[in-house]
Amino acid sequence: MKNRINQLLEEVNQLVAANPDELESLRIKYLSKKGEVSALFNDFRNVANEEKREIGQLLNELKNAAQDKINELKETFNGSTDTEQKTDLTRSADPIKLGTRHPLSLVKHEIIEIFSRIGFTIAEGPEIEDDWHVFGALNFAPEHPARDMQDTFFIEQNPDVLLRTHTSSVQSHIMVQQKPPIRKLFPGRVYRNEAISYRAHCFFHQVEGLYIDKDVSFADLKQALMYFAKEMFGADTQIRLRPSYFPFTEPSAEMDISCNLCGGKGCPFCKHTGWVEILGCGMVDPNVLENCGIDSKIYSGYAFGMGVERITNLKYQVKDLRMFSENNVRFLEQFQSAY
Ligand code: DAH
Repeated sequence: MKNRINQLLEEVNQLVAANPDELESLRIKYLSKKGEVSALFNDFRNVANEEKREIGQLLNELKNAAQDKINELKETFNGSTDTEQKTDLTRSADPIKLGTRHPLSLVKHEIIEIFSRIGFTIAEGPEIEDDWHVFGALNFAPEHPARDMQDTFFIEQNPDVLLRTHTSSVQSHIMVQQKPPIRKLFPGRVYRNEAISYRAHCFFHQVEGLYIDKDVSFADLKQALMYFAKEMFGADTQIRLRPSYFPFTEPSAEMDISCNLCGGKGCPFCKHTGWVEILGCGMVDPNVLENCGIDSKIYSGYAFGMGVERITNLKYQVKDLRMFSENNVRFLEQFQSAY
């Protein structure tokens, strides 16, 4: 009996508990009615009379020691505040969520990057414009119906203040400011008064290109655009130029690429034609050069303009234009990039 008491005393003095639940099971193990200490008290009546005094003392000592130890452990849990309990310093830190580039930025960057390889540099112009830079200089006659092609946002009090409807307006700024050769790309946001739907928005993005020098030909334009199409959509991509009309280019064309979803075989995206339109282009109309102070007898040039949303839809099959401006993180997170 004495040995058992001493053994338990030693055990009790070394008790540890990691949390209140563990402590409670220790209390039950040692101090409950069916616990170790009570069991010894039950055996006490079998102890020989001459030993009763000594063993009794030892037993009480054990009981007190167990009680003290349990109280002491209890104290450590009560003493700690809630916040301390929640702070686990061994836990690894929450990973910081990295943002992603907006898909339109990714594609704009890629367009710029491709054209920069063939000598184009960037310029930007204002979004709030006057009539001359957006229309007048670009050969839109005052009452020309071509102005209706684009639903312009005018500032009510002053019809000469408007939001640019295309980045072609930056052509007018650059040609007035700089002497040829000019080989520039104009990325930017444009505005049109359109009802918002999955396929139209009141603002979107364009990249405009302008090259003016001596002896620039339509073949140069075609070559540059073919290079762009193959770099952007893959080496197998075919291009096709269809005659078109823009006031600021003559001749004008629209460029299609072979549908990169079905490889030109025909699918709902290309309306079963195998081709999708991606940009407008042409040779800069001599009137435009003259309007901006460039001698059209010496210089010629080409221009092109494309919608960034359109190219992005082709690359990533985004079906609803509104997603680009809704800031839905679950949509945006899907566009990872190295740049
Ligand atoms: N500015 C035209 C538009 O917004 C696009 C365009 C067509 C630009 C032909 C050009 C061009 O430079 O040559 O629809």
